[in-house]
Amino acid sequence: MSPPLDLAVVIPTFNEQGNVGRLISALDQALTGRNWEAIFVDDDSADGTADSARELGRIDRRVRVIQRIGRRGLASACVEGMCATAAPLVAVIDGDMQHDERLLPAMADALAADPTLDLVIGSRFVAGGGTGSWDRDRVAKSAFATRLSRHVLRSDVSDPMSGFFMIRTQTLRDLAPHLAAIGFKILLDILMASPRSLRFRELPYTFRTRQVGESKLDHVVAMEFLITLYDRMFGRVVPVRFAMFCLIGLIGVIPHMAVLGGLHFWLDAPFRAAQILATAVAMTFNFFLNNALTYRERRLKGAAELFGGWVSFCVACSIGAIANVGVADFLHDARAGAWVVPALAGIAVSAVWNYALSARFVWGRY
Ligand code: GDD
Ligand code: MN
Repeated sequence: MSPPLDLAVVIPTFNEQGNVGRLISALDQALTGRNWEAIFVDDDSADGTADSARELGRIDRRVRVIQRIGRRGLASACVEGMCATAAPLVAVIDGDMQHDERLLPAMADALAADPTLDLVIGSRFVAGGGTGSWDRDRVAKSAFATRLSRHVLRSDVSDPMSGFFMIRTQTLRDLAPHLAAIGFKILLDILMASPRSLRFRELPYTFRTRQVGESKLDHVVAMEFLITLYDRMFGRVVPVRFAMFCLIGLIGVIPHMAVLGGLHFWLDAPFRAAQILATAVAMTFNFFLNNALTYRERRLKGAAELFGGWVSFCVACSIGAIANVGVADFLHDARAGAWVVPALAGIAVSAVWNYALSARFVWGRY
């Protein structure tokens, strides 16, 4: 029998083929004398990341691979990896060598030495840590996000945005059902999900410059971060997806009103015809924005899929649209306020219908 497993290192990857071997040798060096395993959680990268990891796994049984099909998301990948080990301690580290794996032994030792400690965080912002070669723009954005999340957390953790930490696996398993697991910020998610404040320690490290591959952080990630915060604060009252759907619907009021106002008032088109056309324009606008944002992780791609999705969105929403036109017509005839009021009432009624039907029939899973 081999000695019992002490530590799992979860490595979320998306197109990190060139980093797989480098990271495993770095872990092998850093964790000499320890009983560890590495779990790659790869979201079906096109560059063969999972294949490279499996090749290593055949000759080195410490290396395991979870390949997720048709799914994306850093936070959810981390959660799945962390739930897939028998080791009592689990760490999460980026697959691109930007986190300093040499910190792992000190993290494990800190947890072993103090049983009341729940997790150890690799921090760029305690004395001795650093952000390496980040440009000023990214430092400023990161500082803003850090301040915002510390406010929501009501905690003095210096680097809540860190993606590098080690936690007791049992603690993680207890929290897992309560995690939002959306977006990039898994540590923040864990800290926010816990009903009691977790006892943590922060150890400094310097964020390295990426040598191989590309960063996946883009503007939408910033939005996902705000979604995580929203979800934690108001998610129970209004589910985040419905809130986004409504927000997009609300923005859709602008093209809707522009078309309606333009046709009905300037071109003197009949109100009902103008309202139908405005609804169609708003529907198309809503479809594309929802596809890009609300349902980002299962978005439809390519002309055929998009066209099919758009058609089913329009069909699914036509019940909402009929309700919209009906309500607006009725109120307009009843002279209930100016034209704005009937139009807005129609939109509100259709929002609920559209959400329920499109969630099921356009972006739903069968
Ligand atoms: N499975 C999976 N799915 N992995 C992903 C996904 C995804 O959708 N998106 C990114 N990854 C992997 C990358 O392959 C990499 O190993 C790691 O997650 C981090 O992604 P990067 O794109 O390199 O992120 P970064 O360097 O900009 O962000 C890092 O710094 C942040 C601190 O500001 C990450 O460490 C974050 O976790 C950290 O919060
Ligand atoms: Mn990176």
